[in-house]
Amino acid sequence: MSDAQNASHTVPLPVRRPRRLRTSPVMRNFTAETDLNPNRFVLPAFIADGIDEPKPISSLPGVVQHTTDSLLKAVEEAANAGVGSIDLFGVPLESDKDATGSVGAREDGVLNRALTAVRERFGDDILVMADTCLDEFTDHGHCGVLSPDFRGDLVVDNDATLQAYADMAVAQANAGAHIVSPSGMMDGQVRVIREALDAAGHQDVAIMAYSAKYASAFYGPFREAVGSSLKGDRRTYQQDCRNLRESILETQLDIDEGADMVMVKPAMPYLDVLREIANMSPVPVAAYQVSGEYAMISAAAERGWIDKETAIMESFYGLRRAGADIILSYWATWVAQRLAS
Ligand code: PBG
Repeated sequence: MSDAQNASHTVPLPVRRPRRLRTSPVMRNFTAETDLNPNRFVLPAFIADGIDEPKPISSLPGVVQHTTDSLLKAVEEAANAGVGSIDLFGVPLESDKDATGSVGAREDGVLNRALTAVRERFGDDILVMADTCLDEFTDHGHCGVLSPDFRGDLVVDNDATLQAYADMAVAQANAGAHIVSPSGMMDGQVRVIREALDAAGHQDVAIMAYSAKYASAFYGPFREAVGSSLKGDRRTYQQDCRNLRESILETQLDIDEGADMVMVKPAMPYLDVLREIANMSPVPVAAYQVSGEYAMISAAAERGWIDKETAIMESFYGLRRAGADIILSYWATWVAQRLAS
């Protein structure tokens, strides 16, 4: 070894101290890798038929089934906080449910009336998104129409469901939706919806596709929220939680079929999926922090086991860090307000 090389080894290297960038809030903010922007938040909301007062959802403390009046107030609050979009789910009268979920496509159905009310009041100030799925409207609670299989047992019929989705998406666009969001995981749903929207003159209505949607226990409170009639599960059409590659296939198919945005759902147990999809997707990627995630954080905070505000912010930053451009959460307005204060 030469003298020069020897000398360089005798000079101690300065110590790398990552903690230097953690010394104060200003320093931490200055060097943070991840930001949140409320313009890319979506507030999911429930609109119920036949109620005079907003109705609390016990497993989602702070979330309600809305009347039209309370919905318009919630949308105003969200828009004022800078939230980019409101995603509406309909809760029809039990007597309006049928085997094909036909009330979902009716102009006078609860969801379509609400879409119109919100769009008329807020115009283009906030994006109005519609859940495009049958489960809220069918008497059996499945996301599709049923047909007998070879044994005569009723199963969700993929292709028979597609036309119902197309009709529903067109009705939602007619009612004023800027975005329709097919959440039923039928194969080919994005293509038939795009074709139907275009044929009806709705070329500018966008599709947010629930592309990687898993069969999940974390949807539990949602079933209460929409008064779901479901018995059994959705494992023949929603993805198996053991699969990652399958999400890439599902997402690629949706993009090929014309999805303008794609989604991973649920969020927190699927951050690896979110990261993979964010890496491969040429279109914006959304993550849906679902009802069970909301319920878990709420329940632990209620018991004083975790700090609510810190946990919520951490959950949002985690999704953003994992690659979410857009975040759907029942806390959308709440987080937007905190970011502004
Ligand atoms: C189906 C739909 C569900 C959710 C959104 N869209 C329920 C399901 O797939 O069983 C769940 C959302 C949540 O849990 O917050 N239309």
